[in-house]
Amino acid sequence: MPEPRVFVTRRLFEAGLAPLRRAGLEIDVRPADDPIGRDELLARARGAHALVTLLTDRVDDALLEAAGPQLRIVANYAVGYDNIDVAACTRRGVAVANTPDVLTEATADQAFALLLAVARRVREGHALVASGGWSGWQPMQLVGREVGGATLGLVGMGRIGRAVARRGLGFGMTVLYHNCRRDEQAEAELGVRYAPLDNLLATSDVLSLHTPLTDATRHLVDAAALARMKPTAILINTARGPVVDEAALVEALATGRLWGAGLDVFEHEPEVHPGLLELPNVVLAPHLGSATTSARVAMARLVSEAVVAALEGVCAANVLNPEVFGTPT
Ligand code: GLV
Ligand code: GLV
Repeated sequence: MPEPRVFVTRRLFEAGLAPLRRAGLEIDVRPADDPIGRDELLARARGAHALVTLLTDRVDDALLEAAGPQLRIVANYAVGYDNIDVAACTRRGVAVANTPDVLTEATADQAFALLLAVARRVREGHALVASGGWSGWQPMQLVGREVGGATLGLVGMGRIGRAVARRGLGFGMTVLYHNCRRDEQAEAELGVRYAPLDNLLATSDVLSLHTPLTDATRHLVDAAALARMKPTAILINTARGPVVDEAALVEALATGRLWGAGLDVFEHEPEVHPGLLELPNVVLAPHLGSATTSARVAMARLVSEAVVAALEGVCAANVLNPEVFGTPT
């Protein structure tokens, strides 16, 4: 019997793949940094026992069908899994794993990096110095907003939301949150306060998004939500682009309805609304939330371990549909 085959759709940190190598599996890594095309994905998934996918790979019933009935697990190299039809996987008895925890601090850092960069106009300051046109210290030059004492509103109080809350508290911010359910443990442990969404929008000086993309959160921040925000507020998005109506955001920023925005994710990645590129009061990052060496190695290790476990019939802790490991009837 040939060894089970694992198809990895992109080059990952080799150190993170050690569990797969140790298990003696046949490992087929597509040695590229760009997203795999759909046809190639369908072709190379055929006959695989495990797929290591990225958030740019759509995992739907057609892909599962193309892979074949021997497929045991799809391990997604991301904490978000809006690219995966989990119900379809469950129907076919295919486990789905993601990479929680290991990227929490990295993503919270990125949210804070964007927050401070927007508030203190780091991008405009860098551009001025780099242009050679800086003529010296000026009382009114590139003045920004103070973070200490400001109200940080978090949409989502999962792991990343909590990590951002801790940073905000460390900077002397008042932290409010909105979540699909109230989190009394977070309130007690961190000293954050729950707020209904309307209230959160109206009172936040910085609104930071830490919610998964679902039907309920798509365009959660739309024109109406932006209109409720303070004109002095800053929006930070390190979650998923489609949580924000990008056209409405451009309009709000361009007309001074919103002070600034720091965006790590975009509605139609890698395309960016052209209006965003023309605005001075935005800081844009190419989806780098988890982009630290330690987080990326740990993510690769987590997906590798989940694959090895699943191929031995064992359900790893980061499997999202553990019922597929249930005792067969
Ligand atoms: C990245 O966006 C992730 O979900 O891990
Ligand atoms: C992701 O790890 C989250 O729960 O926020």
